[in-house]
Amino acid sequence: MGNSGYALEIQDASKRFGGIVATDHVNIAVKPGQIFGIIGPNGAGKTTLFNMITGVYKPTEGQILLNGENITGKLPYEIARKGIARTFQNIRLFSDLSVYENIHIAYQKNMTYGLLDGIFKNKKYKDEEKRCAEKCEEALKDMGLWEQRDFLASNLPYGMQRRLEIARALVTAPAVLLLDEPAAGMNEDESAELANVIRSVSKKNPGITILVIDHHMDVIMSVCDEITVINFGKQLATGGPEDIQRNQEVIDAYLGVGD
Ligand SMILES: Nc1ncnc2c1ncn2[C@@H]1O[C@H](COP(=O)(O)OP(=O)(O)O)[C@@H](O)[C@H]1O
Ligand SMILES: [Mg+2]
Repeated sequence: MGNSGYALEIQDASKRFGGIVATDHVNIAVKPGQIFGIIGPNGAGKTTLFNMITGVYKPTEGQILLNGENITGKLPYEIARKGIARTFQNIRLFSDLSVYENIHIAYQKNMTYGLLDGIFKNKKYKDEEKRCAEKCEEALKDMGLWEQRDFLASNLPYGMQRRLEIARALVTAPAVLLLDEPAAGMNEDESAELANVIRSVSKKNPGITILVIDHHMDVIMSVCDEITVINFGKQLATGGPEDIQRNQEVIDAYLGVGD
């Protein structure tokens, strides 16, 4: 363990796929409890950053640190266990299971009782089952999905499916939460509501560090403490919402051209 004071650091990270440089020497340092935004045009390399953080891809160069610990090259399940959870740009729910079952499966990754505990339904098993039920209920209530717990995930309106994805990530009590385009496909009202959800997740989980990729500038500018702009894999600018909105390079590359 290190003690850099940062929850998550991306140090000089690059990722090449054959001839494509998806990420080009990116440096990001996120403090504990921050909401950190990543913006940039399609194909800029935003999701690739998340894939490197979560161990889906190993950086070609550079490293990823979690609380000062080098996690570069660790496997996705190892990184998940260390407390990094994510949602995906394309919703990945179990569509033929209920809302509750989707959450329950996500929580079960936390359970530590063994097969025999389960067979004999002993105290350890019962305690953990009770805790699981409480945590699932809490996560669903926090996301405004408790009333819908028996619905099939695929029958939820789109905005609720997005929230269920966030609930699934949150029920594992992550230290770092990565949201990849949580407002994708949402209208203005829905994305404003999502911004409230992100803020309340941050408030309800003191110390949780959130990274959010999105194209909805209203969401990003209103929830993020700090933002990095990437374009063609390169970091154009990093700063507070006002700095980013005033940065001429950013305006030319991204903000100016509408989305
Ligand atoms: N597994 C892969 N193999 C080859 N190219 C990839 C792969 N993943 C991403 N890329 C390429 O890397 C670039 C960045 O992609 P991505 O990180 O998905 O961008 P963004 O999320 O910003 O839209 C794109 O040119 C994309 O085609
Ligand atoms: Mg992406």
